[in-house]
Amino acid sequence: MAKKLFIETLGCAMNVRDSEHIIAELSTKEDYELIERCEDADLILINTCSVREKPVQKLFSEIGQFNKKKKPDAKIGVCGCTASHLGEEIIKRAPYVDFVLGARNVSKITDVIHRKGAVEVDIDFDESTYAFSDYRNTPYKALINISIGCDKECTYCIVPATRGEEISIPPELIIQEASKAAKSGAKEIFLLGQNVNNYGRRFSDGRRKIDFSDLLQMVSEIDEVERIRFTSPHPLHMDDKFLEVFASNPKICKSMHMPLQSGSTEILRAMKRGYSKEWFLDRAFKLRELVPDVHISTDIIVAFPGETKADFEDTMDVIEQVRFEQIFSFKYSPRPLTKAAEMEPVDPQIASERLTRLQNRHMEILDDITAAQKGRVFDVYFDELKSGGMVSGRSDNNFIVQVRGSEELLGKTLPVKITEPRRMVLYGEVLQQES
Ligand code: SAH
Ligand code: SF4
Ligand code: F3S
Repeated sequence: MAKKLFIETLGCAMNVRDSEHIIAELSTKEDYELIERCEDADLILINTCSVREKPVQKLFSEIGQFNKKKKPDAKIGVCGCTASHLGEEIIKRAPYVDFVLGARNVSKITDVIHRKGAVEVDIDFDESTYAFSDYRNTPYKALINISIGCDKECTYCIVPATRGEEISIPPELIIQEASKAAKSGAKEIFLLGQNVNNYGRRFSDGRRKIDFSDLLQMVSEIDEVERIRFTSPHPLHMDDKFLEVFASNPKICKSMHMPLQSGSTEILRAMKRGYSKEWFLDRAFKLRELVPDVHISTDIIVAFPGETKADFEDTMDVIEQVRFEQIFSFKYSPRPLTKAAEMEPVDPQIASERLTRLQNRHMEILDDITAAQKGRVFDVYFDELKSGGMVSGRSDNNFIVQVRGSEELLGKTLPVKITEPRRMVLYGEVLQQES
């Protein structure tokens, strides 16, 4: 009888993909099957995120809970970015943890499950050409890694210390994977990396032939691929060629993540982001001009050390000017192994006030954007059943759209008229069935 695997995934899309790789390796090579209750599992894995302090604090209480609930002989493994960063300290603090597997060591999963006390957290390990077995959470879209690691040195960010130096995955492997996934029904391909538009800078074998714009074109030439999305691009590398390919290729979805972090050129310099407020605005305006219906999302860190009131006003000013469709905003959280951790923090009260003001203003902008969608028609690719007889999908420009319906809509792209727009979901009606 197959052994049972429970896996909890925290953090970003790269972790979601790493978990899929773990499930794939364990089900094809070790006869595990995925289950949903940790109480019944033979192996409990938690795939962790280290990007802010809170999730790391939660980790130890969470693995303590798993230890209480688990079957007596079940194993517990800690994977992901916190595994990379804390390493054997995890087993010292929680001796019932059986092994620790770092974010860049996923291919070693079938080995560490057999070695009690194993700690595999080498951030120089190169998995860029490893052929993982196949598993996807959904048949309708495929997450595909195009690079591992990150070569930037943003002074607040722990990721380079948990995922190591950036290496691009060879284009032929990406195309092979995309082609296979699309032929088996994943019409949407989601390309992943910490810095996708820096693609092609370094391969394991030293060659350098193509950049991200070329890769996008290559993926779009696969007949069965209907939609291409990607995350995260870096504003610094949004050159004209990239924006023009983005605008002109009909398969590339018209939704761009532009992680601003701060609107103040001074703070951007202290963060080592490599661009100014003016550059960011220039790119965002160019994008809105090239693709009038584009959806722009962003990440913002409020109260980075040294952020003055005037710096924060610069961030608010960018929000007014760009009118982002989506903002992921966070209070700065000091992280070990980063330069900013040594800098003088902003008063926590002021930090909270700034975050609230930013989020409130964004909600007002979002309400305007949402209301303007009433009566519009979007092509929606349906990929998820929801409760209450609803089916969910996304418009090309990334609005979440739900309609009444059943399984038969899944995997189809259909025109939907928006009847009731809400902040998080636009509700609508399918106009006609696909012929
Ligand atoms: N490579 C991506 C970011 C990955 S981390 C990029 O450059 O956009 C995801 C987001 O977490 C970041 O964009 C940033 O906004 C946030 N973040 C990273 N470190 C943080 C910290 N120390 N405190 C608060 N937020 C942080
Ligand atoms: Fe972190 Fe910057 Fe790399 Fe993004 S680009 S993962 S924020 S170091
Ligand atoms: Fe978190 Fe690691 Fe992703 S720190 S955001 S899981 S790269």
